[in-house]
Amino acid sequence: MNENTSLSSAFLDFQTVLATQTDLAITVPGHYAYSQNCVRSSHSSCTNRDNAEPIMASKDEVMPVADWDKTAQQYSDNIARFTALHAADLTGALYHDILSAKTILDVGCGTGAFGLSYVQQFPKGIPGQTLILSDLSPGMVNKTKDVMQQRVPVDFKTKLQYEIEDGAVLEGIQDDSIDVLVSVFGVFLIPDRAKTFNTIQRVLRKPDGVFGASAWTSIECRDSLKNDGFGAGLHDSMETSLKDLTNPFSNKEAPWKQWFNPDTIRSMVVDEAGFGTVAVHRSIHSVMWPSALDLWQLISGSPMSKVTGADQEMAEAAKQSLIDMVNYGDANSPVLVWTASNLVVARGPPSE
Ligand SMILES: C[S@@+](CC[C@H](N)C(=O)[O-])C[C@H]1O[C@@H](n2cnc3c(N)ncnc32)[C@H](O)[C@@H]1O
Repeated sequence: MNENTSLSSAFLDFQTVLATQTDLAITVPGHYAYSQNCVRSSHSSCTNRDNAEPIMASKDEVMPVADWDKTAQQYSDNIARFTALHAADLTGALYHDILSAKTILDVGCGTGAFGLSYVQQFPKGIPGQTLILSDLSPGMVNKTKDVMQQRVPVDFKTKLQYEIEDGAVLEGIQDDSIDVLVSVFGVFLIPDRAKTFNTIQRVLRKPDGVFGASAWTSIECRDSLKNDGFGAGLHDSMETSLKDLTNPFSNKEAPWKQWFNPDTIRSMVVDEAGFGTVAVHRSIHSVMWPSALDLWQLISGSPMSKVTGADQEMAEAAKQSLIDMVNYGDANSPVLVWTASNLVVARGPPSE
């Protein structure tokens, strides 16, 4: 599929069908994890690096940056159609924080899910505000720049900046300079969580900086959703159909799966990252896809599914299993699938 097949009008957005299942803010006294020892970095090191040397990824990166680079176009055409819906929710959850922010940083911008949602919700931009869209993958940053240039009006008031940055390091971002750090399905994939949380705390403005993130989740009521006609869960279907291939979905211990559980998120964000309060909202969207076969093409091209290079016979079996799961063996009719996310909003150090 490509942009010519424009599916956006066919999308069913059952926005927040089960939204806000959990919306609990907790405050716990405790140690504020921000490290005073981090080195203040020079912003001049983060100018556009289109022609720079290849960026080194965090050493224990889950998906090589080259994989994200290669798939930027396909991601933009396909997967971003799912993530855009959750990005819109996160933007809504951060609406008032965004309005009053001087500087916003998107970590793992991919092909612009957050940026596009920002433009949709703040169509004139916000005077005096800078939005930095960053990703470890230069291909993704370039794609974001392209799509934003197509959508942003010439007199847009927000200053837009595009940066290649490892979210675990944020080398070019100064300490204490970001009012809202947002990450739509980005930060949850970075394996060195402690380092990433320290970095987030380093760059957030004290004491009012806000961290907003979305992460995929898994929900108990998937069978009733399917039986009630809301479709099959995309990630559950991927996990089951890809189980015989080597891929991050079949790895039950994959670190990013810790973000599935709202309670685990609360303890990570408060106890590990040192935020004072955290709210976890849960959101689910059903999306109409042209056929199960199209859905397979999306999945097999995702850097997260690792189908590329897999044994041909096993890949064929996985494809059939997916078609069975999402559309009862019908490869060619339209199919409804849902995705569910945890939307995390964390703020402030704990009160003394
Ligand atoms: C699942 S995609 C999400 C993209 C986009 N935010 C969206 O929701 O459509 C994950 C993104 O995180 C980026 N990424 C992976 N590891 C990263 C890291 N250590 N630092 C910054 N970005 C990273 C990838 O290049 C990719 O663009």
